[in-house]
Amino acid sequence: MNSYTTNRQLQGPLIGAKVFMRHPRGRITIDWLRTIPNEGLIHFREALNYSFLLATNHRALVDVLSTNSYDFIKPPGGREFFARGLGYGLILSEGDAHRAQRKAVTPAFTIKNIRAMYPLMWTKTQLFLSQLEKEIRFHPAPGTDTANAVGFVEIGSWASRLTLDIIGPAAIGRDFQSLENENDPVSKNYSAIFKPSGDFLLLFGASLLLPQWLVKLIPCKANLVLPRNVKYLRQVFHYILHEKRALLAREKGEQELADGDILGTMMRGGEFSDSELVDQMLTFLAAGHETTAGAFTWCCYHLCIEPEIQTNLREEIRATIASPAASVSWQDLEGMPYLNGVCQEVLRLYPTLPMSGREAIRETTIAGKKIPKGTTIVLCPQSINRSPEFWGNTADQFLPERWIDTDDKGKQTPNKHGGAPTNFAQITFLHGPRACIGKDFAKAEFRCAVAGIFGLFRCELKNPEQQITFGGTLTSQPLEGMHLKLSKLEGWE
Ligand code: HEM
Repeated sequence: MNSYTTNRQLQGPLIGAKVFMRHPRGRITIDWLRTIPNEGLIHFREALNYSFLLATNHRALVDVLSTNSYDFIKPPGGREFFARGLGYGLILSEGDAHRAQRKAVTPAFTIKNIRAMYPLMWTKTQLFLSQLEKEIRFHPAPGTDTANAVGFVEIGSWASRLTLDIIGPAAIGRDFQSLENENDPVSKNYSAIFKPSGDFLLLFGASLLLPQWLVKLIPCKANLVLPRNVKYLRQVFHYILHEKRALLAREKGEQELADGDILGTMMRGGEFSDSELVDQMLTFLAAGHETTAGAFTWCCYHLCIEPEIQTNLREEIRATIASPAASVSWQDLEGMPYLNGVCQEVLRLYPTLPMSGREAIRETTIAGKKIPKGTTIVLCPQSINRSPEFWGNTADQFLPERWIDTDDKGKQTPNKHGGAPTNFAQITFLHGPRACIGKDFAKAEFRCAVAGIFGLFRCELKNPEQQITFGGTLTSQPLEGMHLKLSKLEGWE
């Protein structure tokens, strides 16, 4: 039977822990998970003595994310802050509004529809590779001539441009061509909002404690950039929406036009106003590009520090895909065990959203404990994904092999569990009704980009001595950018 448990009765260090502001976000809570005996919840206090519960085990995660999911909302302070950028689209809507929106967009994310997007994703990856090749010839490494194609790139910004050029056509039927145009205004506006900045972090932190009208008065650059950039993006998206509506009216009856992208799927139902559709456009473009770009950036980083993984990966890629110019099938990409293992380990060890939160809107239960209305729960992919309870004593190690099954005859196939006892051992995309709707989309574009870059190039850190600092307001990004030395390798033309 549940016993009523006040927060004070739950074990945990009652100190001002700086859990949310210290990077990498989740580093402190990993230590707690490993050292504080608990039954699924750890209590802690942050600034101004605010009280939080960290969900630590399978039972607690299932209750928050699945069984009692609609007993929780996203914490109102953070939600209102992000709504200034995204509006109340799928990420920030709650309750019945969320259920209705989720139902309306789900058909766009069937596995069949995602697989149909591989040609777009691979074509954009091909363009990405050729642009990287131009870039390294433009910024050659000292001592190499341009014919050798060895040079420098900041891969994070290129990754954002790649993923924007994929999500644009897929979500709203618009190719921003930012890979060809580094000054593309949509790309620039989004990066100004999402690039790691002390100002944005300050406003986010303040939003957790103060009402938004007061946060808006804080004199800092982010309070000027945010409304200006969002206004620009909303204007562009309204224009795209009107164009699309006119096209649909002209082509009435040709349903495939409306079915072709996520926006079309939402318009078909007819239940969203223009302003709501623009909220969804802002949401999908934001959620769908910086996140995967972040995962790709951390992948490059990790494979620079463990270069032998690159070698194994390249071998598999080159044995499966004839050349970067060749076309590939979803079976090729989803069937490569090592590629799958590398992508899964990056998503596990470098979750782009290292931390999220929920607030109870009514009394509920978590892991057998009664939880009062108003309690804030912390969900921490960065910690859960490295928990020894799920991953044993190799939790911190990057082991693509854990995602590979080998049969009696030595045939290798990708598996979906990584050897963990439950799929809640990895919460990079969370689970349940509020799980990331773009999970399979993200994995598909991630596979393409990783196959492309490591098939063609050897990647090293530009400066192997450089310390990489984790930062970012919501997503995890390297503060100094990710500067790489790329060397084009022979034998894959
Ligand atoms: C590696 C890439 C990605 C990661 C790590 C990621 C992670 C997440 C996480 C953790 C959430 C839940 C946030 C919360 O409730 O606190 C989420 C929600 C969401 N994601 Fe993703 N995401 C990724 C890529 C994408 C892509 C490519 C799309 C779109 C195509 C997308 C669209 C969304 C949307 C719309 C939601 C809100 C879902 C809902 O509340 O019903 N994400 N994502």
